Amino acid sequence: MPTRLLIDTDPGVDDALAILMAHAHADVAGLTIAAGNVGLVHTVGNALKLLELIDAPTPVFPGCAAPLVRAADDAAFVHGADGFGDTGYLPAARRAADEHAALAIVRLARVHEGALTLVAMAPLTNLALALKLDPALPQRVARLVIMGGAVTGRGNTGRVAAEFNIAFDPEAAHVVFSAWPRFTLVDWELTTRHGIAFATMARWLAADDPRARFFAALSRKTRAWTEARGRPRLLVADALAMAVALAPEIVQGAETRHVAVELDGALSRGATVVDWDGRLGRPANAEIVTAVDQVRFEALVAAALGAG
Ligand code: BDR
Ligand code: CA
Repeated sequence: MPTRLLIDTDPGVDDALAILMAHAHADVAGLTIAAGNVGLVHTVGNALKLLELIDAPTPVFPGCAAPLVRAADDAAFVHGADGFGDTGYLPAARRAADEHAALAIVRLARVHEGALTLVAMAPLTNLALALKLDPALPQRVARLVIMGGAVTGRGNTGRVAAEFNIAFDPEAAHVVFSAWPRFTLVDWELTTRHGIAFATMARWLAADDPRARFFAALSRKTRAWTEARGRPRLLVADALAMAVALAPEIVQGAETRHVAVELDGALSRGATVVDWDGRLGRPANAEIVTAVDQVRFEALVAAALGAG
């Protein structure tokens, strides 16, 4: 039976790739949408556009427009002001569902009791709310895969130890990390070890497929931004997390540890603090992925662009 996914996302360039992968390789029960990379109006609109492009009936549930406690900066400088590279696309004709993302997570976890893989690739605002509404959520879903964190403190935000999804809403991440007994963590540092060479990406984007054409357009700015910084590879964090969700067997290394979220540090708010040596005696909540089969990861991406 194909994996059944529920995806919490803030599309976003790498979110788009992950959503294409999900629809190429799994059943998708819904997309719950957060603010993050850009504002909620754009992240919802981008999700609807992507689903229209691939003609998928997947429902889209708009969620929280802001973090739980403190306002945060978006990542428009990487993803474009609209989150999809400012291509000026015609908005989708379809509409979002009239149900809040957090309520949809709670409901769908019951409808598909024991069968859902939750993939969280955005700030954890919606999931934290869902967890407060239904504290038994972890027992209802088969698996939770989170893209977030920087497990040795090499993040990708202005608070240098913190990764974007966690830094955007640390309180939400704290709620999830402290109540979810065991989740799989795909962090930013793993992402930096599993980029996709620009030449490989260019080959895939030349495929005669609407998905390749659309992704080529929406990722153009991000690719240029990344290359301009002298980086040899495109980093697609959410696509990597999605690969781990779709094909757990591609994981080649993992460490199971307790991970907490720093909420107060002037320099480190949003950092993920890993108890590598078990000093605290707290139960391990995270399976931290440390290596992935790159060939199989790339095969999952290529197929989702029609280039497989
Ligand atoms: C994460 O932050 C966002 O910008 C990406 O979409 C990804 O989910 C990477 O730190
Ligand atoms: Ca994302």
